[in-house]
Amino acid sequence: MELTGKVALITGSTGGIGSEAARLIAASGAHVVVSGRNPERGAATVRAITETGGSARFVPAELTDLASLRRLAAEAGDVDILVNNAALFPGGPTTSQDVEAFDAALAANIRAPYFLTAALAPGMVARGSGSIINVSTMAARIGMAGLSVYSATKAALESLTRTWAAEFSPAGVRVNTVAPGPTRTDMVMDTMGEEGAQQIAKTTLLGRLATPREIAEVIHFLATERAAYLTGATIAADAGRTAV
Ligand SMILES: NC(=O)c1ccc[n+]([C@@H]2O[C@H](COP(=O)([O-])OP(=O)(O)OC[C@H]3O[C@@H](n4cnc5c(N)ncnc54)[C@H](OP(=O)(O)O)[C@@H]3O)[C@@H](O)[C@H]2O)c1
Repeated sequence: MELTGKVALITGSTGGIGSEAARLIAASGAHVVVSGRNPERGAATVRAITETGGSARFVPAELTDLASLRRLAAEAGDVDILVNNAALFPGGPTTSQDVEAFDAALAANIRAPYFLTAALAPGMVARGSGSIINVSTMAARIGMAGLSVYSATKAALESLTRTWAAEFSPAGVRVNTVAPGPTRTDMVMDTMGEEGAQQIAKTTLLGRLATPREIAEVIHFLATERAAYLTGATIAADAGRTAV
């Protein structure tokens, strides 16, 4: 199997896109460190992997908390594949944005991937290989009313992808972004509801929501050597929403 012997840490893998990515990456032979805040959902993802012959363990983390983030990095150990997937999704007009939600989004969506990468990339550099995958959004590239903080944090993450590629790829570590379009997960359905989600889905060229599995397939691809010549790239997995 193409990821046998590799260790993957996937933040936000207790649900949604991250959980699907964890299953795919584990099915390719990697040991997966599943992470998130909710131990029951973490155990469910680990169970889904181990019951199908894969290898995984759960390490809890609250990504807005630097001490928790550092514990996660230490407990994960040597990581070959890092998927910076977990994110907060604050919504609302700029004129009424509250400061606490603004700060929490910056902490979870920028500071956490930043310091997790800072902790784990040196090991990849020393081993001469690795794949870091940042999960962004189509909203980083287009103006979507009510998504100011979220979009700005993801645009920053896409910028970090390019910087980290410049810093780490000469040592063999690839760094890429997947930028999904609207996907049927709790993040979207709980905040927008079916009708709101369908309205955004209709703005894509394929006219529908993605399944979490469809986005996870792109993450999985970037984790493997099939993507060996890709670094510093942002892959739009958005049904053409940002193409026209
Ligand atoms: N769904 C979409 O339409 C869409 C579109 C574009 C981009 N994306 C991006 O895709 C990624 C995954 O989103 P999703 O839709 O799969 O979301 P989701 O279903 O809501 O899952 C989010 C994951 O992040 C974890 N998480 C949230 N806050 C956390 C925190 N403070 N500390 C640690 N873990 C935390 C959650 O776990 P716990 O609850 O266990 O903490 C969960 O595992 C995000 O980066 C999102 O921005 C999603």
